Amino acid sequence: MPLQSWFSDAKLGIFVHYGIYAVDGVPESWSFYTGQVSHEQYMKQLEGFTAARYDPRESAALFARAGARYAVMTARHHDGVALWDTALGDLDVVRHTPAARDLVGPYADALREQGLKVGLYYSHSDWNHPDYASVLHPRPTHDDVNTSRWVAPADGVEDPAAWARYLAYRDGQVGELVDRYRPDLLWFDGEWERAEEQWGLDALAARILAGNPDTVLNARMLGHGDYATPEQGVPLQAPEGPWELCLTVNDSWGFQHGDTNHKSVRQLVRYFAETIGMGGNLLLDVGPREDGTITDEQAARLEGLGGWIAAHREAVYGTVAGLPAGHHYGPSTLSPDRRTLYLVCFDPPRDSVGVRGLRNRVRRVSVLGTGAPLTHRVVGGLAEVPGVTWIDAPAARDVDAYATVLAVELDGELDLYRGTGRD
Ligand code: GLC
Repeated sequence: MPLQSWFSDAKLGIFVHYGIYAVDGVPESWSFYTGQVSHEQYMKQLEGFTAARYDPRESAALFARAGARYAVMTARHHDGVALWDTALGDLDVVRHTPAARDLVGPYADALREQGLKVGLYYSHSDWNHPDYASVLHPRPTHDDVNTSRWVAPADGVEDPAAWARYLAYRDGQVGELVDRYRPDLLWFDGEWERAEEQWGLDALAARILAGNPDTVLNARMLGHGDYATPEQGVPLQAPEGPWELCLTVNDSWGFQHGDTNHKSVRQLVRYFAETIGMGGNLLLDVGPREDGTITDEQAARLEGLGGWIAAHREAVYGTVAGLPAGHHYGPSTLSPDRRTLYLVCFDPPRDSVGVRGLRNRVRRVSVLGTGAPLTHRVVGGLAEVPGVTWIDAPAARDVDAYATVLAVELDGELDLYRGTGRD
C-alpha cells in the first residue's frame, strides 16, 4: 500500500516519551535493563507517577504552534507499563499508579481537535512481561540479546508456548490501541531482539490494517514498514523511500532532571531544513515531567521552531526534496509543481547566492516572508553547460534571525544539469 500522502506532506511531528521513568528522571526502560538502577527501584516509580497536571489539550495546542502535523506518544515502552487501561497483561498506569486513568484517549482526542494526526509508539519488546524472556534470537546482531536476563531465558532453554502467549498479549494490546484510539500511525520499536519470523508480523500487520487500512507503520515493523527511521543524526544521503528523523530536543528521550543540554532554536531550524530538504520528516522529541507538563526549555524550542515554520510555511508543507548537494550551499525544497525552488540560507548572504547547474530561466526571486524582490543574473556557461545564477543578497531588514529563504520562480519544472562540464 502506498504511504499516506499526509505523512510526506506533514514535515514535522512531535515525539512524546511519557512514562514512569520521568518520576526519578532515569533513562526510559533502559535504566533497569543496564543495571543503572535496580528493577525494584525502577518499578517503585509507579507509586510516584501522578499525571497530576497532564493536559493533553495544552500540549496539542503547543504542538500545533510548533508547526507539527502529527505527534507520536509512547503508549507502551520496553518497560511494559501501558498508559491505558489494558485488558491484557498486568501492568498499566490505571491500576498501578496514582494517575489512575487512561492517558491515551485524551491525548488522541486533543490532537484531533487541533487537526493533528494521531501516532502511538509501541514496543514489540516488554522486559517486564513474564513470557517475554522465553526464546533466543537465531542470528543476534546486538551483543546481549541472547544473554540479557530481560530478553533471553536464563537457562538457555526455550519455551515456545510462553512465546506464543507473549505474541498473543502484544497483538491483543495493539488491537486495543487500534480499535479504541484509531491511530493514524503506529511507531514500533524494540524489533532487534528477535528475528523477523519470530515476531509474527504478518498477523500483527493484518490485525492493524483490518482495523484501519490507512495506518502508517514505521520501519520497525520490518517487512511491513512504510518508512525508514534514522535516529539522532541527519543522514548524509537521503534513505531510500520515505523517512523520518527522530531527534531529542536535549540528550534524553524521556524527562531527566539533569539534562540541560538543549539544542538551540537555530540548531533545530537547521536540523529541520536539512531533513525536509532531503525529503524527510523531523520527529522532534519532548519528555514531559511525571505530572505531564512540558518544561519551559522544551516548550520554548518548539515555539521558536514553530515561529520560523509559520513565516516560511510555503517552503515547508507539501514540498518535496530540493537540490542535490553541490548546486547550492545549503538545503532547499521544491514546490509540489516543481516550479519554485526554496533556497535556505543559514548565514546572512554577504554578497550574492550562487546556484549552479540550473538549466531553467529564472522568472523572479524574492525573500520568502517579507516578499522583497531580489535581482539576479546568469554568468558564464556554454550552450549545454549552464552558467551560475547569481542572486543578489537581501538587505539586512529582510534577513531572518534563524534562516532566510529565497523563493526562486522558474520558467518550468526544475531542470538540472548534472554533468562534468564540457569535454
Ligand atoms: C531507541 C531506544 C528507545 C527510544 C527510541 C526512540 O530505540 O531504545 O528508548 O524510545 O530509540 O527512537
